[in-house]
Amino acid sequence: MKDKVLLVWLIAFVFLGGLMGLAQAKVSGQCSSCHTMHNSQNGTAMTFDGGGPYRALLRANNCLGCHSDSAPSDVQAVTPLVKHSSDPGYVFGSSRGSSLAGGDFFYLQTNSDAKVHNVDELNNPDDVLSAPPGYVSNTDYGRGSSWPTNQAVSCAGTYGCHGDPAYQDPFASISGAHHQNIDRTGTTQPNGVYDSYRFLYGILGTEDNDYEATVDKTDHNGYYAVDRSSVNSYTAPNKGSINYLCGQCHGDFHAQVDYDTTIGSPWIRHPTDYDMNNVKTKEYGAYPGAGNGTSLWNGNYGITAAGDYFPDVPVGSNTGAVNSQVLQASGDAIVLCLSCHKAHGSPYDDLLRWDYTACTAGTQNANCGCFACHTSK
Ligand code: HEC
Ligand code: HEC
Ligand code: HEC
Ligand code: HEC
Ligand code: HEC
Repeated sequence: MKDKVLLVWLIAFVFLGGLMGLAQAKVSGQCSSCHTMHNSQNGTAMTFDGGGPYRALLRANNCLGCHSDSAPSDVQAVTPLVKHSSDPGYVFGSSRGSSLAGGDFFYLQTNSDAKVHNVDELNNPDDVLSAPPGYVSNTDYGRGSSWPTNQAVSCAGTYGCHGDPAYQDPFASISGAHHQNIDRTGTTQPNGVYDSYRFLYGILGTEDNDYEATVDKTDHNGYYAVDRSSVNSYTAPNKGSINYLCGQCHGDFHAQVDYDTTIGSPWIRHPTDYDMNNVKTKEYGAYPGAGNGTSLWNGNYGITAAGDYFPDVPVGSNTGAVNSQVLQASGDAIVLCLSCHKAHGSPYDDLLRWDYTACTAGTQNANCGCFACHTSK
């Protein structure tokens, strides 16, 4: 009996220990690190940029006020950083550097709007694009039949990715989420923004507890997706797919219109929501190109064999689980928008995970991610 009590304490201790530091679901730290009641201390402003006062009594004027390396060090220590002021050092297929799973908004600084989602908060509108390419009317989320002229995408809010799009204001759309956040797993339907995957309203999946700061085939996010060969309608839980998130703004590229009726080769747009188990007997069965020990990425991220999960060319599953091996059971190797793209930014045009110009048929090389699935091209 005494042993049992000890064991329970030990487990509780280890559990609490795991909750310290960055690997914590809810916000931590002194209220005053992030909030100011009157925006005044000894007569000076308490906001990080000297302006304000700001919404939710925050010391930051927008999301990037905390989520970038310009935030005060105590805030940085507990916040996932998505914008660095110097090159985070992402190298496709081998290293994330200091960038997290979604990539980094730093890459705007290489002077190309094509390398990031030019979110409003960057104060640097996209010179080429305004409306999301492939936008289709999405009344579901109240964004309307067409994208407003010169409307930039934002971190959150009606024209943003995070939060509940029913609210125009980014902070209104995520209100309460930070203090209620949980490390969500699998396919449980969320109750709100706080328990949706990464505050992406309604999206399912498993959140890696350090946002893939450390990452390998066993240690990563679990993306939820649905195989479209068997399911054709967008009802829950299909709307929980990470592809549906992208499809909310890029609907045409997400099969809402184009290949609803004709699923399968030959395709007219690159498939997503398509399970590679359906075509396992073809080259896809050798994902990530590890067949016969000849993987282009052998040894990186723990990859040694065919079927090993490759975090830089991720695939989704209908369980939203963290799989270290895929192509083991139907629904565990679903093509994602994120198989090829980063969500925030990358060193490459079109937010691609790799340099598309390195992709040449007949010359397989580790700089091109197409070869992770098209293992015989
Ligand atoms: C590490 C940063 C951080 C710390 C520390 C912090 N907060 Fe917050 N808080 C936020 C952010 C960000 C928001 C706004 C976004 C949201 O609501 O998710 C917020 C929103 C709030 C809100 C409005 C939304 C809600 O959850 O009801 C209240 C109230 C609040 N904080 C109180 C507190 C109190 C009290 C403390 C100290 C015990 C504290 N906060 C500490 C970051 C922080
Ligand atoms: C809330 C709407 C919205 C959502 C959701 C969204 N996007 Fe976008 N996206 C945009 C807008 C607006 C643009 C054009 C302006 C820009 O690039 O900043 C864009 C541009 C892009 C571009 C081209 C970038 C360029 O400048 O050439 C890619 C690639 C892209 N999005 C991929 C994705 C992927 C992948 C997802 C899902 C993870 C996604 N988007 C989700 C609104 C959205
Ligand atoms: C005052 C600082 C602060 C501001 C401002 C802030 N955040 Fe955060 N954010 C944090 C901290 C700290 C965490 C880590 C703890 C947590 O997950 O709540 C976090 C976590 C997150 C996460 C990860 C959630 C998850 O499920 O793992 C997302 C997404 C996010 N913030 C989005 C936003 C958006 C969007 C905004 C602007 C509308 C914003 N944040 C504004 C401090 C901030
Ligand atoms: C995550 C895996 C994955 C990645 C990465 C990937 N593909 Fe594919 N691709 C597939 C699957 C699965 C199909 C559907 C095959 C089928 O139906 O036989 C496909 C289909 C295609 C087709 C159409 C084939 C047809 O039969 O109509 C082309 C062309 C193609 N991919 C090119 C590319 C290029 C170029 C890249 C890199 C930019 C790429 N793919 C990256 C998995 C992938
Ligand atoms: C197989 C890899 C692959 C997948 C999967 C993929 N894309 Fe792309 N995407 C590309 C490439 C490569 C380009 C460059 C343009 C082209 O080849 O059409 C691109 C371009 C884009 C653009 C920019 C278009 C423009 O006009 O500038 C957007 C937006 C985009 N993709 C969104 C998505 C969304 C949303 C999904 C999921 C529904 C998705 N992509 C899935 C590889 C992919």
